[in-house]
Amino acid sequence: MKEYISENPRETTKLGRKIAEGIEAGDIIGFNGDLGSGKTFIIKSICRALGVTEEVTSPTFTLMHLYNGDYKILHLDCYRLKTAQEAEMLGLDEYFDSEHVCLIEWAERIKEILPDNAKIIEMDHVPGKQDCRRIVI
Ligand SMILES: Nc1ncnc2c1ncn2[C@@H]1O[C@H](COP(=O)(O)OP(=O)(O)OP(=O)(O)O)[C@@H](O)[C@H]1O
Ligand SMILES: [Mg+2]
Repeated sequence: MKEYISENPRETTKLGRKIAEGIEAGDIIGFNGDLGSGKTFIIKSICRALGVTEEVTSPTFTLMHLYNGDYKILHLDCYRLKTAQEAEMLGLDEYFDSEHVCLIEWAERIKEILPDNAKIIEMDHVPGKQDCRRIVI
C-alpha cells in the first residue's frame, strides 16, 4: 500500500500517467472515494496516457464506456448500481475475463463480483484543502 498526497489536479494527472505505465491487458482497477474525489479525473489521465484520443467522460448515467487506446478499455461507474446482482446481469464477468483494461468507479458497490486480482485505489478529500486529495494505491 502506498499513500500519495496530491496537492492539485496536475499532480493527480501525473500520478495517473504513472499508474498507466504499470497497466497490462486484462488489468482491473477499482476506484473508491466520495463524490468529487477525482475518480473520473484520474481515469481520464490514465486513458490519455494509454493512447485514448476520444473524449473520456463520466459514465454515471450511461454506466459504461468503451474506449480504444493501446488496450481495449472498459470505464465503468457503479454509483447507480443497487446490488452486485444488477452488475452480474450486465454481463460484466465477460469483460473481467477478457483482455479489457477495466477501470471501475465506485468498485466497492460490486465487491462481491469483483475478481480477486482487482487492484483498488482509494481517493479522498483532505479536510480544509479544496484541491488536495489523499490517494492510496
Ligand atoms: N488534487 C486533485 N485531484 C483530482 N481532482 C481534483 C484535485 N483538485 C481538484 N480536483 C477537482 O475535483 C473534481 C473531481 O471530480 P471527478 O468527477 O473526477 O470526481 P469523481 O470521484 O469521479 O466523482 P463521482 O463520484 O461523482 O463520479 C474535478 O473537478 C477536479 O478538477
Ligand atoms: Mg466520477
